[in-house]
Amino acid sequence: MVDLKGKVALVTGGSRGIGRAIALRLAEHGANVAINFWRNRKAAEETAQAIEQYGVKAAVYRANVADEQQLHKLFEKLEGDFGRLDILVSNAASGVLKPAMELTSKHWQWTLDINAATLLHLVQHSVPMMNKEGGKIIAISSLGSVRALPNYAAVGASKAALESFVRHVAVELAPQNIQVNIVSAGVVDTDALKHFPNRDDMLGSSRQKTPAGRLTSPEDVADVALFMVSEYSKMIIGQTITVDGGYSVVA
Ligand SMILES: NC(=O)c1ccc[n+]([C@@H]2O[C@H](COP(=O)([O-])OP(=O)(O)OC[C@H]3O[C@@H](n4cnc5c(N)ncnc54)[C@H](OP(=O)(O)O)[C@@H]3O)[C@@H](O)[C@H]2O)c1
Repeated sequence: MVDLKGKVALVTGGSRGIGRAIALRLAEHGANVAINFWRNRKAAEETAQAIEQYGVKAAVYRANVADEQQLHKLFEKLEGDFGRLDILVSNAASGVLKPAMELTSKHWQWTLDINAATLLHLVQHSVPMMNKEGGKIIAISSLGSVRALPNYAAVGASKAALESFVRHVAVELAPQNIQVNIVSAGVVDTDALKHFPNRDDMLGSSRQKTPAGRLTSPEDVADVALFMVSEYSKMIIGQTITVDGGYSVVA
């Protein structure tokens, strides 16, 4: 049994999709959970209510994770509301979905900033709030960091940068007993997929080619995230753990 009683977690993009499932899984195991959102307050408040049903404290912070000033304010609120941080889940992501030949420098910069540079800022704010017992940091990535997917050149490159950054910062922080890792997922049918021009093909071919016989669900990702923030994963440092029902190992 994973016991997170008394711990404080922050899940960026924790209002919907994979972030919501992770926030609820952490709350189910006793953590107080702060979630961040950007555009959709109603979804965030509904998720906060669901978190509180586990008898833990919830908080909702609006901030665009790509904006350093807004992140700074978010952490001031977190410090005031909870006074500590034990678990950071960097889940919110965005980016431009286009073929490489149609990408502009602006598309590229925005995508790299929001998906990779954001973790730098989140880590720099989080570590001072983690106490001597240490902490757990996970970031959410996708198979597009190591495979070529249609329309995914910028986002794939940003996720590759994210994974590389995690390896480096994980080594830096391991002596402080702060573990940093990636959980990478196969195709998960969330609202994010509505932005993909090739959504139906992605879902169809993932279902067909996944050895486990079904798509990865948000809860599948949350189960692995729970393991990664538990004591049972303490010697896993700087790794990318893939949750995809075997999709990525099939030739
Ligand atoms: N879905 C997949 O197939 C899949 C596969 C592998 C990895 N992933 C990764 O899993 C993570 C979550 O994806 P998802 O599919 O669950 O997405 P989703 O359902 O679209 O949810 C996105 C969440 O991020 C928040 N968000 C978006 N932009 C934000 C910003 N600029 N600042 C703060 N919050 C922001 C959204 O809040 P608002 O609604 O308020 O904007 C929402 O809570 C991402 O890192 C994604 O790359 C997804």
